[in-house]
Amino acid sequence: MHYHKDAKLFNNKFWVGYFFSQSSSVEAEGRRHYFRYRLRPKLLRDVSKRDVRTSILGQEIAFPIAVSPTAMQRMAHPEGEVATARAATSLGTGVILSSWSTSSIEEVAAGCSPNGPRWFQLYVYKDRDVVRDLVRRAEKEGYTALFVTVDTPILGRRLADVRNKFALPSHLRLANFSTKQQHSSGVKSMQDSGLAAYVASLIDPSLNWEHIEWLKSITSMPIVLKGILTAEDAKLAVQHNVDGIMVSNHGARQLDGVLATIDALPEVVEAVRGSNVEVYLDGGVRSGTDVFKAIALGARAVFIGRPSLWGLAYDGEAGVRKVLELIRDEFSLSMALSGCTSIADITPDLIQKDRFLVM
Ligand code: FNR
Repeated sequence: MHYHKDAKLFNNKFWVGYFFSQSSSVEAEGRRHYFRYRLRPKLLRDVSKRDVRTSILGQEIAFPIAVSPTAMQRMAHPEGEVATARAATSLGTGVILSSWSTSSIEEVAAGCSPNGPRWFQLYVYKDRDVVRDLVRRAEKEGYTALFVTVDTPILGRRLADVRNKFALPSHLRLANFSTKQQHSSGVKSMQDSGLAAYVASLIDPSLNWEHIEWLKSITSMPIVLKGILTAEDAKLAVQHNVDGIMVSNHGARQLDGVLATIDALPEVVEAVRGSNVEVYLDGGVRSGTDVFKAIALGARAVFIGRPSLWGLAYDGEAGVRKVLELIRDEFSLSMALSGCTSIADITPDLIQKDRFLVM
């Protein structure tokens, strides 16, 4: 991995702490869970032509791999979220913009390919006017769904951020808020993690199902809950008429010891069966066979977080494009070698779960 030259301009502590120590042992542990699922290929099926297209909430995407929201992408590359969005939408897939982006809702919309799928990730602030403003602007700028992150009423204890006294470098700000707002510049170096302090002061720890009802009342965008991991919560999501669930554990950055998303996926898929709720997954997707496994277990599409950041740090828009192309091409190959020519062909019988996790 080569880091973008501008990355060297930043305080190494921020850089290493924020992005690269995120590939921690916790993440490695999450990865191992994919190895437990083995493929059962069907042969002699004519796989000379394959169609990897699918859709998210009625919007076509060229392949079932899109980009998860990750905050503060200008720390990885000067073009940050705009480069990521351009890369994804130029390939015909989509991107979720973080509430905590360092490029604004408007800048990213302008950078996307025309009609390029873009979705907005929402953190629910204590101040409802702040939330209303974000939602209104996302709607106006052509974002077509709201991914509400439900696993972060309080920030997990991220020891690397604590050790590094994580702060947003002073030349950057959270671009979705006016410069006058504490919301824009509040991720400051403190005794502890600046991000943890920011969340504690501004994000609503009382987040609950009533907030979801309220959000539905203020937007016509479909609502996807990002962070659901159990059948119980998936059933409640169906009862609250949400449009989608992203099975996610926030890249193993919130609750230590939580389920791996690939293991949580089947129970969530089962719990929403018979409803129109779409199920997606993120967390630990690094190769085409990971995508294949998630789809065989019932995900409609998968999202990648860290890999897109690595591509961004390596070579901006071209780097993110490269990462997406690599995983897309591996996915198409794994379809071919498993005897599948369309997404609909990827069924649960193509997967077998080993009973034991070999470390
Ligand atoms: C994240 N993630 C995240 N999630 C979210 O809802 N809003 C956010 O602003 C962020 N920011 C963020 C920053 C960084 C540096 C990382 C690594 C992750 C979580 C993200 O959306 C996603 O759930 C995980 O990253 C998926 O796991 P992988 O693909 O990184 O293994």
